[in-house]
Amino acid sequence: GKGEHRHFMAKEIFEQPQVIGDTLNAMYNPARGSITLPDLPFDMADVPKVTIVACGTSYYAGLVGKYWIERTARVPVEIDVASEFRYRRPVLQDGGVALFISQSGETADTLAALRHCKAEGQRIVSVVNSPESSMARESDVVLQTNAGPEIGVASTKAFTTQLTVLACFAIALGRAKDTLTPAREKALAAALAEVPGRAAEVLAHDEAIRDIAQFVAEARDVLYLGRGTSYAIALEGALKLKEISYIHAEGYAAGEMKHGPIALIDESVPVIVIAPHDEDDLFEKTASNVQETVARGGQVIFFSDAKGVLRMQDTALHAIAMPEVDPFVAPILYAIPVQLLAYHTAVLKGTDVDQPRNLAKSVTVE
Ligand code: F6R
Repeated sequence: GKGEHRHFMAKEIFEQPQVIGDTLNAMYNPARGSITLPDLPFDMADVPKVTIVACGTSYYAGLVGKYWIERTARVPVEIDVASEFRYRRPVLQDGGVALFISQSGETADTLAALRHCKAEGQRIVSVVNSPESSMARESDVVLQTNAGPEIGVASTKAFTTQLTVLACFAIALGRAKDTLTPAREKALAAALAEVPGRAAEVLAHDEAIRDIAQFVAEARDVLYLGRGTSYAIALEGALKLKEISYIHAEGYAAGEMKHGPIALIDESVPVIVIAPHDEDDLFEKTASNVQETVARGGQVIFFSDAKGVLRMQDTALHAIAMPEVDPFVAPILYAIPVQLLAYHTAVLKGTDVDQPRNLAKSVTVE
């Protein structure tokens, strides 16, 4: 049942501290402070390339995975939505890993891509939530998300547990490739171990985000901006909003604003900005993109840490101060406020949150 919640989606959003912890427990060794994947039938040190294929929200998890794997393990990653992958005749590399991400493990396009890669001799790794699924059965290795059953059509806890698994994969590959120092591996593992507790702190902003949703619910169009892994969270936030509230939303890399979308900005367009502090000072670049938006009347809703919120207090219409964390794990936590914002906006709109029109939980036709 839904417990104390009005919708399965709300219940599933609030389960995230628990299920992220359950997912991490299978791979994190607290005594050694290290990450261990299940036994693999190949040596990770030899992997020349990773190809990621998925659909929808699972694809956005893959996009975060690409940023993580390339940064942490220095292995090139190619990523496609499954419906495009096979038909462009992708060039696969011998000994490459093909990584499929799917809550259901049954999505037709993703499964067809998996079979294509298997026939081409790739190592098949899948990140799935349903251990009995076709993808799980047909893979060389299954990295399980322990999200439990996800009933709401809009994916929430499946996404953050997929991110948790992908973070562990990136760390394990980095260790195998010798691109991570033992000290950095320990720090990343410790940052991951903190995520369940930090996620609970993020959920405490529920009421503040419900207030912000009153403003978003009035909008016809909404923009989501971010850089780096926050760009993927911007895309995911926009998808979540459009599928359950039916408000038109777009996610953009913040640096792309001036290449076109800034033309859309006026006082009626909420601009949701995902901007944790990071290793590369992308924060400052995002902050200046936000100033350009505000100069054109954009109404900014800012998700950052306390320092970032302080910096933008005169600029943003609303701001939420997120916990201070290692930038590596930020996308797992910043997924939560965009889920809550979509949820409360949809509730205000009176839509069928758990079963939005035209959508199915599992898409088994191409
Ligand atoms: C969005 C959503 C869909 C799924 C997509 C892939 O909230 O739920 O975009 O993420 O249909 O489904 P799986 O992960 O089952 O392959």
